[in-house]
Amino acid sequence: MELMKSYTGVSGPLVDLRSDTVTRPTAEMRSAMANADVGDDRYREDPTVRELEEEYASIVGKEAALFVPSGTMANQVAMRTWTSPGDVVLAGERQHVLQYERMGSAINSSVQIVPIRDRGGQLDVLELVRQRELFNFLGSPVKVVCVENTHMPSGGVPADLEVLEEIRTSFPGAKVHMDGARLFNAAVANAVDPSLYASYADSVMSCVSKGLGAPVGSLLAGPKDFIEEAWVERAILGGQMRQAGILAAAGLVALRGMRERLSEDHERAKRVAIAIAERYGTECLDPETVTTNIVIFPHPEVDKFLTHLRENGVLGGSVAPGYVRLVTHLDVGDDQLDLALKAIAEAP
Ligand SMILES: Cc1ncc(COP(=O)(O)O)c(C=O)c1O
Repeated sequence: MELMKSYTGVSGPLVDLRSDTVTRPTAEMRSAMANADVGDDRYREDPTVRELEEEYASIVGKEAALFVPSGTMANQVAMRTWTSPGDVVLAGERQHVLQYERMGSAINSSVQIVPIRDRGGQLDVLELVRQRELFNFLGSPVKVVCVENTHMPSGGVPADLEVLEEIRTSFPGAKVHMDGARLFNAAVANAVDPSLYASYADSVMSCVSKGLGAPVGSLLAGPKDFIEEAWVERAILGGQMRQAGILAAAGLVALRGMRERLSEDHERAKRVAIAIAERYGTECLDPETVTTNIVIFPHPEVDKFLTHLRENGVLGGSVAPGYVRLVTHLDVGDDQLDLALKAIAEAP
């Protein structure tokens, strides 16, 4: 196992369960990056970027796609493209676009996001419909409904297809945007084609820089005219890149070769969840609820728990007060997992 000390301050074997964004590019990605055919993407002359955009659009069944530097920018570009200042947007109360983007939608799009209950990872459809009626009555019809698939704060729960269908049919006049940062985790976990999930949304975004292991980038897909406008909005937000084929090359390796192996991350996350349940009981965490690569559970002393892990060479994190988050990914093999499971069994 590799020694990593520099930025984490931990010496010895390191198991990094903070996020699936900590992966480093594979040898195949590095080679593809070194050999990428590139051009200036400002002039749409980067063949590798175009190839990646076309590949993603085809996988999610949309007309066109746009390569952007991050998942946050994909959500922000979608919001700017679908809305005008003062518009009403409905989103789950714990979704990334509402809680984790530094209020970017208020700043970049001047929209009002109305939070909707998202217990267990699914939007509460009755509440969505109540809000639709209220804002119709008030003369500000809902413009966009955001769904997150998988839903990170509930522990990577995939979207329920029936809920997605209800949302789609309940909002014929609004746009549905899917934050599918981890869409492929959902697709692999439930053996659902990504294009089926995406068919319930007008626009969908996915990150190649999370479980798929690429170093940088996300894709936003939708109808052709939407992507044409999104291209301008990306430029306004400063996300226009030049010889970005260097990055897109790794994204292509990720999309083509890294999706199926996500099931290994899911199996390891399940083992982490079982270890948590054995240590703290199933009332703390029911392992049945963990079906992808994210394990979230309450702990009365999060800092104490994380310090114990760290002293044993394992890094974890927290995404809300009183909650621990552990995430499996490409760089966590069985040896690393065993170290983590041992540390969890002995944790305070
Ligand atoms: C559900 C979800 N959406 C969007 C993002 C944003 O992605 P990025 O970190 O690339 O900006 C994240 C990041 O963790 C996420 O978990």
